[in-house]
Amino acid sequence: VSHATDLVGYSLYLDLLEDLASGKTRHDFPLGREEDRVRHAMELAGQGLDVALVCSGDAGIYAMATLVFELFNGGGLSDAASRIDVTVAPGISALQAAAARAGAPLGHDFCTISLSDLLTPWESIQTRVKAAAEGDFVIAFYNPVSKRRRTQLAYARDVLLQHRPADTPVILATNLGRPGELVRIVPLGDLNVDDVDMLTVVVVGSSDSRTVTTGSGKTWVYTPRGYSAKEGTQLGQTV
Ligand SMILES: C[S@@+](CC[C@H](N)C(=O)[O-])C[C@H]1O[C@@H](n2cnc3c(N)ncnc32)[C@H](O)[C@@H]1O
Repeated sequence: VSHATDLVGYSLYLDLLEDLASGKTRHDFPLGREEDRVRHAMELAGQGLDVALVCSGDAGIYAMATLVFELFNGGGLSDAASRIDVTVAPGISALQAAAARAGAPLGHDFCTISLSDLLTPWESIQTRVKAAAEGDFVIAFYNPVSKRRRTQLAYARDVLLQHRPADTPVILATNLGRPGELVRIVPLGDLNVDDVDMLTVVVVGSSDSRTVTTGSGKTWVYTPRGYSAKEGTQLGQTV
């Protein structure tokens, strides 16, 4: 963002840039209309401007970077836009921010599943939820609910309860890094869809995930890496 002259993005995200946006030309877009947003950014860059396409979290995780390459690949761009240079800057995705706030829940194998059926058929999402449940992955659920979508997270909880204990820790992390940030830890059996909104990432532990309360009284979630079970290795001696 620092050397861009022009910023393209959803208005809320451009507002969050605060001082970083000063002196730059803003191209605000409403929520949705993602292809318009990306096309606009690419066409501006084709005119020779230095453009930052701003996303939340990581631009490559359920976000705009993918659309850039989709548009390169048959998206009807102008010749100038099809010749632009692209740099994808890595960001901190919601699951990493949630994990850091809550402890170390991603210490062993994990996956992410988006529960949005806008771009993915619900049957495919169900297949992935079942596979992740059987594989005992820690799972970060993105897009867990929307105003219209209320049943998918309850479905996922019920499938997971067939494969891991009801006291498996779940992290509900809302508005990470923003005003109103809220991080809660609940047992899987008590996961309630009404406690979750579209600005929440839901990280469900594996059957190995544990909570620990430290001297300050704060309860953390972690997933052991498994060293303590290895022969000849004592917990605390291995990094
Ligand atoms: C379209 S995805 C965008 C993901 C984003 N690119 C990332 O890497 O975090 C939107 C979903 O990401 C999660 N999310 C994005 N920003 C968040 C935040 N600040 N706090 C908690 N969850 C967030 C929520 O699950 C939300 O429904």
